[in-house]
Amino acid sequence: MFSYNLIMEKLKLNYEESTVRSVEEAYSSEPWWYDARGFLILTFAYNDTLIHQIKHFALNIKNQHLEVAIGSGTFLDLVLKYRRWKKMPSVQISGFDYSKSMLQAAVHRFRNQKNIELQLADAAKMPYKDNQFDSISCANAIHSFPDIQNSMKECYRVLKPGGVFVGNCLIPPRGFWVFKWTANRINKWGQKKGILHRSYEQTEIRVLLNEVGFTILEEELRGNCLSFITTKKII
Ligand SMILES: C[S@@+](CC[C@H](N)C(=O)[O-])C[C@H]1O[C@@H](n2cnc3c(N)ncnc32)[C@H](O)[C@@H]1O
Repeated sequence: MFSYNLIMEKLKLNYEESTVRSVEEAYSSEPWWYDARGFLILTFAYNDTLIHQIKHFALNIKNQHLEVAIGSGTFLDLVLKYRRWKKMPSVQISGFDYSKSMLQAAVHRFRNQKNIELQLADAAKMPYKDNQFDSISCANAIHSFPDIQNSMKECYRVLKPGGVFVGNCLIPPRGFWVFKWTANRINKWGQKKGILHRSYEQTEIRVLLNEVGFTILEEELRGNCLSFITTKKII
């Protein structure tokens, strides 16, 4: 049986109680509000478009795929719909998030899809084997991680050599002052709420990815969002 309670029972969480509480407070909104809010954040803080993001992630999913910080699953659902529309093959997906409320929404959304397995887990301590996945996506979440360094190390560890790790990250607001001002206000609100750790300069992300071992294949800056495609080299 694929139920949320079963997943919760099976899990041996190693979080501090206080971490669990603060995560739940940060992501306490109703999933529908979370989705609507996400769309506004994408438009006014990232200054990016949904279709651009969908394509970025949809084109880089392979056989055994890991979705890091899946959230409520709305974005992955759109990515998978795009893949079906483009007649791309169905794949086996593992996904996780460390917010119970977000994960609960994702479990409900994908309840009839046997190729999707979800867990409650921390990006900095993933419950997966070394070299397990052909592709990993981390959409709109890197800048939310309290421990970005270990989260990136974990992505590297669980990716197969030759596999792809695809992500995006919020960079400090730039451009015309009204857009910059609006994005700054949204980011400040996000930090206060606990859903944004901080934005990162392009060079910080580049150094971090290289340091953990990734080879960057592509980088693209659009609005206040850096998208990247990396690989783990076959030694
Ligand atoms: C902005 S949401 C993005 C969700 C989804 N990927 C999307 O694009 O809609 C960020 C997500 O990151 C999750 N998150 C933050 N820190 C995490 C961590 N250390 N481990 C796992 N998930 C984390 C949050 O719970 C939240 O669901």
